Amino acid sequence: MNACITAELKKLKDTGLERRLRAIAGPTGPRGVINGNPALILCSNDYLGLANDPEMKRAAIEAVEKFGAGAGASRLVSGTMEPHAQLEGRIKAFMDAPAALVFNSGYHANLACITALAGRSTDIFSDRLNHASIVDACVMSRANIRRYPNGGIQALEGALKRSTAAEKLIITEGVFSMDGTLARLDEIIPLLDRYNAMLLLDDAHALGVMGKGGRGTLEHFNIKRHPSIIQVGTLGKAAGSFGAFAVAGEDVIELLVSKARPFIYTTALPPSVCAASAKAFDIFEQRPGLRERLWRNVSQFKAGLRLSGISFMDSGSQIIPIIIGSSGEAVRISGELLEKGVFIQAIRPPTVPENTARLRVTLSAAHTEGDIAYGLSAIKEVFKGRK
Ligand SMILES: Cc1ncc(COP(=O)(O)O)c(C=O)c1O
Repeated sequence: MNACITAELKKLKDTGLERRLRAIAGPTGPRGVINGNPALILCSNDYLGLANDPEMKRAAIEAVEKFGAGAGASRLVSGTMEPHAQLEGRIKAFMDAPAALVFNSGYHANLACITALAGRSTDIFSDRLNHASIVDACVMSRANIRRYPNGGIQALEGALKRSTAAEKLIITEGVFSMDGTLARLDEIIPLLDRYNAMLLLDDAHALGVMGKGGRGTLEHFNIKRHPSIIQVGTLGKAAGSFGAFAVAGEDVIELLVSKARPFIYTTALPPSVCAASAKAFDIFEQRPGLRERLWRNVSQFKAGLRLSGISFMDSGSQIIPIIIGSSGEAVRISGELLEKGVFIQAIRPPTVPENTARLRVTLSAAHTEGDIAYGLSAIKEVFKGRK
């Protein structure tokens, strides 16, 4: 093997940063089978349990029968089929936005929007905890990148004040993926007019769960859609499917169609995926009980941790991190939990900052009260004796 690769792999192993794929048998859901043993899954982003929902599956199967397995080309060639157009119409209506565009993943969506909207003459103001896809997109855009401390509104405003750039783009996640905390949108949005800036709001972990109707963090904060906001949502998390979208003004969407390379140069999503995604928006509207169930589970879980004296980040969302610190220790604890039939993946740098390796617990509406109690008892046992 190439010596550099061997050395790099050894370094990853020695620092506890080696990553391994783990196959889960059975459908996506709150429980699965890992290495032949049943396990409670407490680290999926299928927050409403829609990935294996019968209505979702039926929508996908019917679309396969009607439209086939693949789109056959990129959206701008011959890949825009009825289900793509229908999904965009459904998203636009649900999000109450002027226009919508679907992308092949959240990663694509962030690359597409940021590289199309920002260039050498742009100052980007990016929260330090923003997702890797945002970080990569900022670099690709060739814009000047000004990173501000997580949630640091004063620092953000200071940087905006100092900026002399022709265009200014603020980027934040609505719900931070690894901390579960919410961006202070009520304080960020007023900066848009004050400094003539745009905002890319990545609501990957907010769609379907945040806000009374599941429309994300703008709805959560009761903030009206501002013309300078591009809101990104992913379809592979609470929507239980795959893909992503941006909603924004018609001019922004028109620009993305003509300019966004990660939209232009890739085969369109399979029609069945679009049909399942469209069904998810029906379910968001028709089954508000799923969100209620999710928040009940979150309350039960947090109360249980408190009772056991286990410290956790009280994030305000369905993402509840238990910070461990050392990567090796986080992996060890995750392994012990798995032996007890509970799967919580250890999240390590560079996904999270150095010395903040963690168990990122995520809950779903599909978890039962019994599931939560079982998860809590396993965590309590593994954490016995730990401060
Ligand atoms: C905040 C955030 N943005 C974007 C993405 C990428 O979304 P997708 O998984 O659809 O590529 C993720 C998912 O990991 C995320 O957490």
